[in-house]
Amino acid sequence: MDPMERSKKAVAEHAANFVKEGMVVGLGSGSTANWMIKRLGERVQEGLNIKGIPSSFKSERLAAECGIPLTDFSSVDKIDIAIDGADEVDSDLQLLKGGGGSLVREKIVDGEAEQLIIIVDETKIVTRLGEFPLPIEVTPFGWELTAENISNLGGKPKLRHLDGEIFVTNNDNYILDCKFPGIQKPAELHASLKLLTGVVETGLFINMADQIIIAKQDGIEILTK
Ligand code: A5P
Repeated sequence: MDPMERSKKAVAEHAANFVKEGMVVGLGSGSTANWMIKRLGERVQEGLNIKGIPSSFKSERLAAECGIPLTDFSSVDKIDIAIDGADEVDSDLQLLKGGGGSLVREKIVDGEAEQLIIIVDETKIVTRLGEFPLPIEVTPFGWELTAENISNLGGKPKLRHLDGEIFVTNNDNYILDCKFPGIQKPAELHASLKLLTGVVETGLFINMADQIIIAKQDGIEILTK
């Protein structure tokens, strides 16, 4: 296993230990969260009794394969803990997410959790968000207009494609990956973007994370709110 995968696995397994008997668990998305889902699957096989709420079709499939019992918002009204990855994290614990395209479901699940734990390797820690283009989920109808409105706010939107086709989210929307020249005020930018009619959600997760678990070359570091 290459060192990056080993790091992701280490933080994911560390975070999986925070899950306790009887909890409802928000299951994040992405390659780091996948390791956490696999570890929880092992713990379930060992007798742990939990229910998972997945934040993407991919996480749902993996969790089912790992034998984690799944539930949804029609059956539970709270999530005890959510564990998810991120594309960037700043020193205020603000997050940029959505590189995998699951930002809406992630935000719903992560936002409902009493405790949100983010698992990343140290390359994701930044002084200012925005080196990674900000994913913004938009309605397919009028996406060109929405892109123009995002440009007026200083971003450079690019419609996401996958394998030569327009990328379609789990909610049948499109993603605009928007390069902003250094996001100085993430909360304000998020608020301005949300006022645009075609914007469904942004990848800025403001004041949501309780704890960041970072995989470093020499071990694990934890940032807490
Ligand atoms: C999915 O939409 C994202 O928010 C992921 O959580 C994020 O891209 C991190 O993914 P990796 O763990 O694969 O880097």
